Amino acid sequence: MPSPYEDLNPLPRLLMGPGPITADPRVLRAMSAQLLGQFDPQFRAYMAETMELYRQVFETRNRWTMLIDGTARAGIEAAIVSLVEPGDRVLVGVFGRFGHLKCEIARRCGAEVHALETEWGTVFAPEQIEAAVKRHRPKLVALCQGDTSTTMAQPLAGIGRLCREHGAYLYVDATASIVGMPLPVDAWEIDVCTAGLQKCLAGPSGIAPITLNDRAAAAIHRRRHVEQGLRPAGYVPGEGPVIRSNYFDLAMIMDYWSDAALNHHTEATTMLYGARECARIVLAEGLANAHARHAQASRALVAGLRAMGLELFGDLAHKMPNVTGARIPAGVDGERVRRRLLEDFNIEIGTSFGPLHGKIWRIGTMGYNARKDAVLVTLGALEAALAAEGLGLPRGAGVDAALAEYGRGAPAPAPV
Ligand SMILES: Cc1ncc(COP(=O)(O)O)c(C=O)c1O
Repeated sequence: MPSPYEDLNPLPRLLMGPGPITADPRVLRAMSAQLLGQFDPQFRAYMAETMELYRQVFETRNRWTMLIDGTARAGIEAAIVSLVEPGDRVLVGVFGRFGHLKCEIARRCGAEVHALETEWGTVFAPEQIEAAVKRHRPKLVALCQGDTSTTMAQPLAGIGRLCREHGAYLYVDATASIVGMPLPVDAWEIDVCTAGLQKCLAGPSGIAPITLNDRAAAAIHRRRHVEQGLRPAGYVPGEGPVIRSNYFDLAMIMDYWSDAALNHHTEATTMLYGARECARIVLAEGLANAHARHAQASRALVAGLRAMGLELFGDLAHKMPNVTGARIPAGVDGERVRRRLLEDFNIEIGTSFGPLHGKIWRIGTMGYNARKDAVLVTLGALEAALAAEGLGLPRGAGVDAALAEYGRGAPAPAPV
């Protein structure tokens, strides 16, 4: 039994699941910088820089581009609780577990929720979303860009325009897709978009980047009720109903990130350092290069899995480039294979939830691990684990196919 008084020394796992993934060492290094007071001018400058860096990551000019303390669902909850008033109609596109999560959060806000569902492994055609918007006339349409539970990515071009034409706001959860694939928030007329660090941004979970346009900010500002004890001189409360969460009240969080620097929470300094470094690294690489790196890792993994004789899950025309679902072959114990990978190779791949439980593994090639060597090592280890299960498969074929996809012998592209 290990002693709790020994120093923390986790095994060097290669995290190839649907997130979290292995953090970029530079992010961990930035997070070891000393703390600053949250109103220290140096720290306020880091906050302003972080806002600017995330404007570039989200491809937006939105003034209100900031961080919400908490895991990615903190961003989701802040967006929904701040926009949705009790009795509002909300349309949620559900193509996996994280659609259900948005339904659940919206219901807790007192919304009348309409779930537009499609079979796991598929996404919506724009006409299906349009028909549902016309039928339900929602105030808010909430969609995932990529849902890691099914590995599918919903095309979003044109949906923002459609929502505007019908008087709805569009909220997009890009936790799992940001940086892995294009997400031009302004060009796609997304009103509010949130993310997390623990996938393609190559950081730890614990803080959620968010961006909201002026249209959404005005709707939230209508509900601005500053907590007693902090109210500035001349404070006039908004005429809209109070936001039902204090911690996730975007009106107060905007005040906190504004030049007024009105107190709210104590900023998670270390997480902000990490978030700033995640964005800096990705922007130094270039967004287009990062998208191409994820697409290449996906192609190589897919080629390798197929060459091993594994069947892939879902509508591959809409597969996320950073997560791949592989069907567990008949007669193979999926959990035992995952255990072998972990115990023999220090590699983690993902299990799955709900209707896919026990049917597919989910393999992430994202952020710091969207790398040639990470893909090859994972394929080689999976082959050995499957062979140990007694599955007859062409030895070496998976790694060879992935190598061919990368261009055999070509140097591995560095993350930056
Ligand atoms: C699309 C999506 N949304 C939300 C979440 C929830 O993120 P967190 O666990 O950081 O709260 C995840 C996590 O996998 C996700 O993939």
